[in-house]
Amino acid sequence: MNKEELLNELKTNCMSCQNCELGSTRHNIVFSDGNPNTAKAILIGEAPGENEDLTGTPFVGRAGKLLNEFLEKVGINREKDLYIINTVKCRPPKNRVPTNQEKEECSKYLYKQIEIINPKILIFCGATALQSFYKDKIQISKIRGQWLEITVNSKQYKAIPIFHPSYLLRNHSMEEGKPRALMLEDLKSIYKILKK
Ligand code: URA
Repeated sequence: MNKEELLNELKTNCMSCQNCELGSTRHNIVFSDGNPNTAKAILIGEAPGENEDLTGTPFVGRAGKLLNEFLEKVGINREKDLYIINTVKCRPPKNRVPTNQEKEECSKYLYKQIEIINPKILIFCGATALQSFYKDKIQISKIRGQWLEITVNSKQYKAIPIFHPSYLLRNHSMEEGKPRALMLEDLKSIYKILKK
């Protein structure tokens, strides 16, 4: 089977998943966005919000629009360069942070997506994604922008934590050293690797 067939099979399984409570309140699973054949990086967010739950596509609400603006600024093409997914595939009620049990149940889809895509790099967008792979308790602000080596299903990947765009929605300054400026720095560092 090729990548698309493998992903379609996984998505079909995910669509009927009731392994945690989120299965009973979702409108849609939010499986992915982007082209699995051209993507060199997987960007992993937290969980779908309301707009994502209604459309079935990740990062289409306010945070997604801001993410798009930042990607455009540095020349990363969302549809071609990235495969975008979330740590959990169903919306937690009132956008609460997913529980450990929800993350654990959903990790089989997450790890399988990574295995099938086999990207050059992983981008952990926000603390929830970071903590699903990097077990040391460390704040995203302390580790963002650092290149890590992460093992998923016995394979090593280069990975980088970045801020979540929701955090940037609450922090407007573009001054040097502030979150928005740091986000640009991190995306430039990602761009360099993608274009190598
Ligand atoms: N926040 C996320 O982490 N993922 C989405 O898909 C939307 C908002």
